[in-house]
Amino acid sequence: MTTDLFDNVPDIHPSQEAMAEGAALLRGFVGPLESNLIAALRDIVVEAPFRHMVTPGDHRMSVAMTNCGSAGWITDRSGYRYGANDPETGKPWPAMPPLLRDLAGRAADRAGFAGFSPDVCLINRYVPGARMSLHQDRDEQDFGAPIVSVSLGLPAIFLFGGLKRSDKPRRYRLEHGDIAVRGGPARLNFHGVAPLADGEHPLTGRQRINLTFRKV
Ligand code: SIN
Ligand code: FE2
Repeated sequence: MTTDLFDNVPDIHPSQEAMAEGAALLRGFVGPLESNLIAALRDIVVEAPFRHMVTPGDHRMSVAMTNCGSAGWITDRSGYRYGANDPETGKPWPAMPPLLRDLAGRAADRAGFAGFSPDVCLINRYVPGARMSLHQDRDEQDFGAPIVSVSLGLPAIFLFGGLKRSDKPRRYRLEHGDIAVRGGPARLNFHGVAPLADGEHPLTGRQRINLTFRKV
């Protein structure tokens, strides 16, 4: 008989949508963890504040970013990469709280990727009008691991394309508490976020926070 640590937890997130083979949308998966999650993020941004990074093409990103974990994703004029230290403070990125790592692991497991243990969490902050253009996540060494993406705060339209930049993206409305898992044959699919619509969320105010968990 197999035993599952979560066998006794009532299933509060029954809704799972397939976005593509290897990509699943777990509606409301964050559930009652929302407040603890936001409190943990508040502590992280005290140590490593949000900042607007610059792309190699000298474009200032409208999304503000920070990281936690054993490395963090950075971009500047010299390119995209992962680095162990926050370039703004010179200190290591804040550690990833176990609460975050566990949530990402459980979401990956639910989507069919057992044993996911991320080492990096990129934290994105969108204010109304901020957007992310279509891109692939390919700065990681291990494309075998999925990317787990947690949405908090204001809703956003997630653009989910295919393996070619020219593949027409499908649009998904990501709400507070939703988790998208992108792995397997969808690991390198192009994706982005449409300009954030204005609004006010009871927990985050006028912003959307997105967490992407990665195995670098
Ligand atoms: C990303 O591609 O890193 C961000 C995705 C999102 O904000 O939903
Ligand atoms: Fe991405």
